[in-house]
Amino acid sequence: MTKMLKQAVDGILTEAEAEELYGAFDQIGNIIILRVPDSLLSKRKIIGEVLLDKVKTAKSVYYQSSPVEGDYRIRKLELLAGDDKTETEYKEHGCRFKVDVEKAFFSPRLSTERERIAEIVEDGETIINMFGGVGMFSIVAAKKKKCHVYNIDINPDAARLCSENILLNKLKGTVESIEGDASRVIEEKLHDVGDRILMLLPERSDEFLESAIKAAKKKAVIHYYCHTHAEKKDQVSSLASQHFLSVVSIKSEILGAKIVRPVGPRFYQAVVDAAISK
Ligand SMILES: C[S@@+](CC[C@H](N)C(=O)[O-])C[C@H]1O[C@@H](n2cnc3c(N)ncnc32)[C@H](O)[C@@H]1O
Repeated sequence: MTKMLKQAVDGILTEAEAEELYGAFDQIGNIIILRVPDSLLSKRKIIGEVLLDKVKTAKSVYYQSSPVEGDYRIRKLELLAGDDKTETEYKEHGCRFKVDVEKAFFSPRLSTERERIAEIVEDGETIINMFGGVGMFSIVAAKKKKCHVYNIDINPDAARLCSENILLNKLKGTVESIEGDASRVIEEKLHDVGDRILMLLPERSDEFLESAIKAAKKKAVIHYYCHTHAEKKDQVSSLASQHFLSVVSIKSEILGAKIVRPVGPRFYQAVVDAAISK
């Protein structure tokens, strides 16, 4: 993709400028999203137009004008070229997803992590996906293994798209979309039911850890996502694990920990897989 991006902007940007666009480009279905560096902001419109022309599968090009932010973890977009349509269909691991790149969180960069989780899930499990978004992790897992998944999200658009994605993937009755605050939903109806709890809201995992424990069966696995500062990459797993052990209130065994993706200089999104016993 990067090579294609560089070829597309050849003649408009210098090589150094094209280099700056590296890693700042996602294609989701027929939508391209660019995070243009400040130095190239004045050229964003022309970059958008050229990309739309060169990338035959693209119908819209947007500039991401804010970071992913707020409770719903969404971003602001500015149309650079093509149709002003933020909904598209995205295919991954044999599943189809309706996503809205403006109204609900979605990242193609979590694809490897979704596959990893689906591999670990065992047939017969009940999974609670506390911050499930449009259902990506839930649906990929449920397509691969015979499991039941509660996909909770506080954003009504994410919950609506998840309901549509459940039907698109013929998983009615297997994945359930629940709109609401994860801690409230767990408090009201999901005590002691989860074999596996997913906590993909790395900024606020500590705040929700007690709810995750409440949702878990006597023995369960929690996938705890967090952000970790580290001078060196190889320190991340142990720093994230130490942090988890310092905040968890019950007996836990670390099964593994790893970097999910870099999110800034010396700053990583990490996941800790922990077996808990209550
Ligand atoms: C980082 S996104 C992850 C979404 C999804 N797991 C995925 O990978 O596509 C976090 C999600 O948590 C949701 N969220 C934020 N606060 C929440 C809460 N208190 N209860 C339930 N969902 C919440 C946001 O709306 C957002 O969709």
